[in-house]
Amino acid sequence: MEEEYFLNLLQKYSQTHILGHYQSLSLPEKEKFISEMGKLDFELVFSLYEKVSQQKSPIKHNIDIYPSRIFTIPKNSDEQVEMEEARISGESLIRKNKIAVLIVAGGHGSRLGFNGPKGMFPISPVKNKSLFQLFAESVKALSLRYKVVVPLLIMTDTEILPEAKDFFKTHNFFGLDPQTVHFFEQEMLPTLTVDGKLILKDKTHLFVNPNGHGGCIKGLYDSGLLKKLIEDGYSDLFYCQIDNLLVKIMDPAFVGYHKAEDSEMSTKVVRRRSCEEKVGIFAAEDGKAKIIEYSELDPDNRGILDNKGQIRDWAGNTAIHMISLAFIQRLDEHGFSLPYHHAVKKVNSLGVEGEIAEIEGWKFETFIFDAIPLAKKTCCMEISREEEFAPLKNKDGDDSPETVRKILSNMYKNWLHDTGIEVEPQVRVEISPLFALSKEELRSKIKGVNIRGDKDIYLE
Ligand code: UD1
Repeated sequence: MEEEYFLNLLQKYSQTHILGHYQSLSLPEKEKFISEMGKLDFELVFSLYEKVSQQKSPIKHNIDIYPSRIFTIPKNSDEQVEMEEARISGESLIRKNKIAVLIVAGGHGSRLGFNGPKGMFPISPVKNKSLFQLFAESVKALSLRYKVVVPLLIMTDTEILPEAKDFFKTHNFFGLDPQTVHFFEQEMLPTLTVDGKLILKDKTHLFVNPNGHGGCIKGLYDSGLLKKLIEDGYSDLFYCQIDNLLVKIMDPAFVGYHKAEDSEMSTKVVRRRSCEEKVGIFAAEDGKAKIIEYSELDPDNRGILDNKGQIRDWAGNTAIHMISLAFIQRLDEHGFSLPYHHAVKKVNSLGVEGEIAEIEGWKFETFIFDAIPLAKKTCCMEISREEEFAPLKNKDGDDSPETVRKILSNMYKNWLHDTGIEVEPQVRVEISPLFALSKEELRSKIKGVNIRGDKDIYLE
């Protein structure tokens, strides 16, 4: 960015506090400051601020009835058969090297009190393996099972990218072929004060935030990965978040439903635990399938019960999707068209006297699920929370390391129980993805393995 352009921009948007700060810097500091600025889209952020600050009250959504059929967990033999057919057709696509995997892993694990990329958080019940390791091992196990090359794409924000990459390198890519692991970055946007002012992080940096997981649409394009995947013959992406350890990567039934419905973007949903659970809701608005984030839903609409006293809008977003690569390409061709949302967060700002103060910042983000209403066709599948959804979000309480470790260990205990092996209540169990990815696989491998039920168990 040219200095003159930058100074004019600051003038235009009344950012005189930054102008003053800039003038006080030494020449090398000025150069550093400007080079950092060049990567940021100021015009976008100021126009978003303008728009949001003119809104009289927050946007509130009203939910219609569900847009299309949700493939619920099979309740009878017909549904069982339908799911089996989906599984078989999904497996055949996987075997044809059509599916790549994308994990969004941007942001620090700050809600977990962890100062580093969330993917590095140690979590498995016995070996304390990191989230990254468990995901990488699952992808490796699937590549071996289906004898395919599964490209593993990992999106992080600019700030944590080097650390995340180093982590993989230091651990020899957890047994994956490094050629199949592709990191790419999402854009960062300046964070603003509630008065629309830029915030200093330190002498030569502004406070910035990643542009939301919707940033993967543009990130895939900018990195060249979208083009490469299409050229290599892949047709769809299996998308998930780094925080859900139970995710069944490339679940064949999900792949099969997605294809059978000719869907451009499909979603897995769980029954909401309560009206207060912080999950998006799969619903419809103006007749279009859509996910409405819990924080943007009219409070009167969060807890509507049906005539049996159950939550009417039960389908909670697990953030597990299948997305067609052709659809991503179309979204990119028409410009990066996902809408921006704004959220308030606490940030540590550098004051004019050099003091650090905690202030409220406004960040702007895009959400991947806002692509759903743009898809020609969508599809939705219900999954069991116990088997597939245990997100790691908070330091304590629900969705915390303690509860997630317990859920994982209990799930593995149930798998063992299914094979006739009982363990004592205090025993922790961990089954490496490389040993078994499901109870069916465990059953086929467990014969001859000597297991004691009175001390921690790790199967590899
Ligand atoms: C998210 C969903 C919510 C869903 C829930 C399921 C949003 C806005 N909401 O909530 O509908 O029910 O997960 O667990 O996403 N990330 C990036 N880059 C970013 C921001 C986030 O890669 O710029 C990644 C994070 O690493 C994380 C994931 O996206 O893996 C989720 O982000 P987060 O902000 O924690 O969303 P939740 O509030 O958990």
